[in-house]
Amino acid sequence: MSNDTIAIACDHGAFALKQHLVAYLQGKGLKVLDLGVPSTDSVDYPEYGYAMAHAIKDGKAAKGILMCGSGIGISIAANRFPEIRAALVTDVTCARLAREHNNANVLCLGGRMIGPDLAEECVDTFLNTDFDGGERHVRRVGLLGNPK
Ligand code: RB5
Repeated sequence: MSNDTIAIACDHGAFALKQHLVAYLQGKGLKVLDLGVPSTDSVDYPEYGYAMAHAIKDGKAAKGILMCGSGIGISIAANRFPEIRAALVTDVTCARLAREHNNANVLCLGGRMIGPDLAEECVDTFLNTDFDGGERHVRRVGLLGNPK
């Protein structure tokens, strides 16, 4: 598992925000696995949500950042994998709670919904907040991996 690598992926709706965050994270000395897209050409967001899920499943990164225009479609795509807990976040409080309560391993942002400064704050909070680890949270997160 590459614990020090952060995977990042998006569709065309968030290309500019992805480029911004790649530079931001690399500027902090962090390793970034960029899974695309490489341009603003129109693509299908599920492909990039699935690419992220496989990167996490395969141990290429412990955490990821996923974006599409709204953040909705790509979060739905990633969450089809039981190993993925992808949290669509619009503020810093939700970024913190996604880690503390949900042990989210993928942060989702809407490239057309959020500006670069707030996105940086959400990313920093997501990357620097630990799972609470309390019994009830462990139980609930465990249930997420076993849908009935
Ligand atoms: C692409 O136009 C847009 O539908 C996509 O980025 C995303 O918002 C879907 O949920």
